[in-house]
Amino acid sequence: MNESTNHQHRRLLLKFLLGSPLLYLTNCSSSETKEKDLKEVIDLLSQPSDAINVFDFEAFAKQKLPPAHFGYMSTGVNGDLTLKANRDAFDKYKLKMRRLAGVSDVDMSVELFGKKWPTPIILSPVGSQRAFHEDGELATARAARSRNHLQILSTVTTYSVEDVAQERGGPVWYQLYPLTDWDGTLDMIHRAEGAGSEVLVLTVDLTGGTDNRETLKRMMKLDTRTCTNCHSDNHYARKPMVAPTKDAEFKTDLNWEYVDKIKNATKMKLVIKGIETAEDAQLCLDHKADGIVVSNHGGRASETGRGTLECLPEILRVVNGRVPVLIDGGFRRGTDIFKALALGATAVCVGRPYIWGLSTFGQAGVEAVLGILTEELSVVMKHAGTSSIKDISSSYLLAEK
Ligand code: FNR
Repeated sequence: MNESTNHQHRRLLLKFLLGSPLLYLTNCSSSETKEKDLKEVIDLLSQPSDAINVFDFEAFAKQKLPPAHFGYMSTGVNGDLTLKANRDAFDKYKLKMRRLAGVSDVDMSVELFGKKWPTPIILSPVGSQRAFHEDGELATARAARSRNHLQILSTVTTYSVEDVAQERGGPVWYQLYPLTDWDGTLDMIHRAEGAGSEVLVLTVDLTGGTDNRETLKRMMKLDTRTCTNCHSDNHYARKPMVAPTKDAEFKTDLNWEYVDKIKNATKMKLVIKGIETAEDAQLCLDHKADGIVVSNHGGRASETGRGTLECLPEILRVVNGRVPVLIDGGFRRGTDIFKALALGATAVCVGRPYIWGLSTFGQAGVEAVLGILTEELSVVMKHAGTSSIKDISSSYLLAEK
């Protein structure tokens, strides 16, 4: 066996090991092993362009981040069944490729509220991004700017909406977790408006709190650092949490009347994130929502066991093209995105993958993740012979019986 084959085999073995939870546990128990293995991973992925798919960034992030921070990102709830269901749902559809359609260039642009985006791939709101990289949401904004993607900024951003919009070079959509204090909530809405946001994304799937984030709790036990060096005693979000009032609490008893109140309080378009059923989609329309994000918070809210792709068709049937329907949860490949578009989604949001990129290489990592997903979508569109997003239809899907 020559040296390069040897090296290749070693890389393959390492890749295999990196996917193993056992290795992770071993790493956490010995800092010496951890440093050694981190070096091996860095060897494998010394620059963003070394990544073959987005999962490579996850392997690296797992080694690089403190266990509690990786746990915060990766956790689902209870037995992580919904988290898994999000991914499994993609396997329930196979793709039917068409041949000789003569498509060599694809136009991936989509329009949302009168604005054209070159791609249907959107950055989901993810809180506390400084837990993953010093530049946090600013690095994400720079990547969104350089590749021209829509960015949705979380309420629990670790940089202000004004600074993020500045780095994005234009407005972001602002995701809202309302506070118990109405004036505080209004203040957040006005700040987002002041920073140019034209769309407010109201997240409704954490109402009543979350189920048990068991994976997070287990990984916190593996972390030997003192959390309160960075976190306040009663909140995991890293200081400074950009909320208007110091002791602000999130409102946990949202209802449809409250949706009306928010709608009447702003000139921004109102998109409701966290819808999983036809019934709630109908209520969104009844309460004049301008858009919907089909989402289960990446499997980290309640343990339903249903993937978002499974929820999508019943929602699309009710909405019937009246408002844009976005979706997130488990999108990791161009083929995943293609399947959601084929079912009729307007656009697709991704969460963890760009955070894996952020954790490893900051802005360049986010750019690389977006680049891989875009390229993969372009390839499947060419194989299908669909030259634009509107050409992608359910005729390219075969549902498992
Ligand atoms: C989230 N998500 C989220 N959603 C939201 O509306 N506000 C928020 O502050 C957060 N914060 C957050 C933190 C972390 C670490 C994760 C992983 C997720 C949910 C997010 O917007 C999105 O719905 C999911 O991440 C999509 O699933 P995938 O792509 O991560 O599988």
